[in-house]
Amino acid sequence: MKNIAVIGTGYVGLVTGTCFAETGNNVTCVDIDANKVERMKGGEVPIYEPHLDVLFERNIKQERLKFTTELAPAIEDAEIIFLALPTPPGEDGSADLSYVLGVAKDLGKIIKEFKVIVDKSTVPVGTADQVSAAIREETDIPFAVVSNPEFLREGFAVDDFMNPDRVVIGTEDEKAKTIMNELYQPFIRDGHPLIFMDEKSAELTKYAANSFLATKITFMNEVANFCEIVGADVDRVREGMGADTRIGHRFLYPGIGFGGSCFPKDVSALMKSGNDHNFNFSIIDAVLNVNNQQRIKLLDKVLDHFGDIEGKKFALWGLAFKPDTDDIREAPALYLVDELTKRGATITAFDPEAIDNVKNVIGDKIEYAKNQYEVLDGADALLIATEWSVFKNPDFNEIKSRLKSPIIFDGRNIFNLNDIREKGVFYSSIGRQT
Ligand code: UGA
Repeated sequence: MKNIAVIGTGYVGLVTGTCFAETGNNVTCVDIDANKVERMKGGEVPIYEPHLDVLFERNIKQERLKFTTELAPAIEDAEIIFLALPTPPGEDGSADLSYVLGVAKDLGKIIKEFKVIVDKSTVPVGTADQVSAAIREETDIPFAVVSNPEFLREGFAVDDFMNPDRVVIGTEDEKAKTIMNELYQPFIRDGHPLIFMDEKSAELTKYAANSFLATKITFMNEVANFCEIVGADVDRVREGMGADTRIGHRFLYPGIGFGGSCFPKDVSALMKSGNDHNFNFSIIDAVLNVNNQQRIKLLDKVLDHFGDIEGKKFALWGLAFKPDTDDIREAPALYLVDELTKRGATITAFDPEAIDNVKNVIGDKIEYAKNQYEVLDGADALLIATEWSVFKNPDFNEIKSRLKSPIIFDGRNIFNLNDIREKGVFYSSIGRQT
């Protein structure tokens, strides 16, 4: 059992704090948002993440998970302090470290004994050094700054945290190594190691992993685009490629590009980090360019089909950047909405979780429907931007009777080509023949 403080109760902080409490530690989460802290004390989980609510409730009830706005009392007894603070992208793509360094400075002013201070946020190479320097300016008390990047996927965060593929710990401080090793013992399974390294390598591991996955998706998106030109089927190509264990089946699904709060931000930040060191990440540059085009791939298909879309009405299934989340950050659906409405089209959209978030951002620029069938009424075509399970086995008679004509543009390849051919709809997807 350890006493832990987690600073920042965003997505990463909340999952981290809750999962450490679940493994028997005493966790105090700190946030400057008093309203949010009150709601969390009352048991309200401020984000949508499957399975988090059960753990949250249990650990609050058993008094292992607490919330406060006060930094000093929260860290007083804490052996380990996690920084899970926002690092939003600046204009130039670089990560803004002002929150992280601000809290580091505050910690420097209040720590009274040795602390392990852990960067959990995704931060550029060299941040641990900057955090150390910010603390050191304020105190002579010994401390260690550790880089311990998270590899959680939204929608699977609890499972990813509890059963990690690996845990990366960047520190060369022997005392910190021992403490982190003890903390992570409950999460270690055969073949899924704790990997110790220096701080900089740990920081770069996170960017390199996300950028590699983004590259893998993007490579497949280009293969899919080429399949359409030469008459190949990307499903078959993916199957053939993925069976090579060096390649693997995962993250080979083509679509209308990657989005979310992580891949676009991290890929841009790695590019910027390279530029800062006069190093040109040419692969990353290409990934960003291809993804920008891919996000509006359905627009090209719609324009090819209809020509002018002024006054056309489209039904849109899916707004979240991926299924099982209400997160719409960098969602390809929103780029698509932008391009379609710019050309005079109107849109009615449905998403099982993300409508409220979209309303907050684009308001009444589009209309919203209560369910996936209501959006179809009188629309010229159905566009699919997110592969929610509920869209995968629809009532095609309902689709055909409600649409003006039965036309579907699918940006996530949710239907089997053979099945859909029997349904009597015009169907255009990514990397497959219509
Ligand atoms: C990603 C990483 O997968 C996590 O390991 C990492 O911890 C996290 O970023 C982060 O840095 O915090 P996440 O953004 O939740 O997690 O989403 P993913 O499930 O990785 O999907 C990212 C995007 O790629 C989505 O837009 C998804 O639709 C797209 N994608 C994914 C594809 O287009 N094809 C695929 O085969 C897989």
